[in-house]
Amino acid sequence: MIKADAGAIKQVRDFVAVTFGAWRLDDDVARTVISELATNAIRHGSRAGDPVVVRAYRRDDGAAVVEAWDVSDAPPIVRPVNFAAESGRGLLLIEALVRRWGTRPLSEGGKVVWAELEPVPA
Ligand SMILES: Nc1ncnc2c1ncn2[C@@H]1O[C@H](COP(=O)(O)OP(=O)(O)OP(=O)(O)O)[C@@H](O)[C@H]1O
Ligand SMILES: [Mg+2]
Repeated sequence: MIKADAGAIKQVRDFVAVTFGAWRLDDDVARTVISELATNAIRHGSRAGDPVVVRAYRRDDGAAVVEAWDVSDAPPIVRPVNFAAESGRGLLLIEALVRRWGTRPLSEGGKVVWAELEPVPA
């Protein structure tokens, strides 16, 4: 679990690097994706000090999943491509990089946004 502040993103990237390293998987995509998901969880789904949970796990078929939990019920919204905008690219980037992604509500309130990655040997 991390606290919702910008300094937490390095911690999240390092956690994913170590975890994918233990799985002997390449971590480039995973670090990018979890940065976007955790940044969104902090920026759009939290107030200062709220808990954000980051998890990484394998599916039975070998796919690697990374996800970020936040306390907000508001869903992520993919914005239409807008080349003039300075934000709104994170989810478009994730869509291009992952097998699939999605969101689900948590029974205790809040939600998870997850992304399923192709397992690429390191
Ligand atoms: N965890 C979240 N909780 C609530 N709303 C979210 C969450 N993640 C994304 N959103 C909503 O979806 C929109 C699109 O997210 P996206 O990551 O694509 O863009 P951004 O975060 O606004 O900008 P960028 O990622 O380019 O810095 C956000 O502007 C926000 O309204
Ligand atoms: Mg974003």
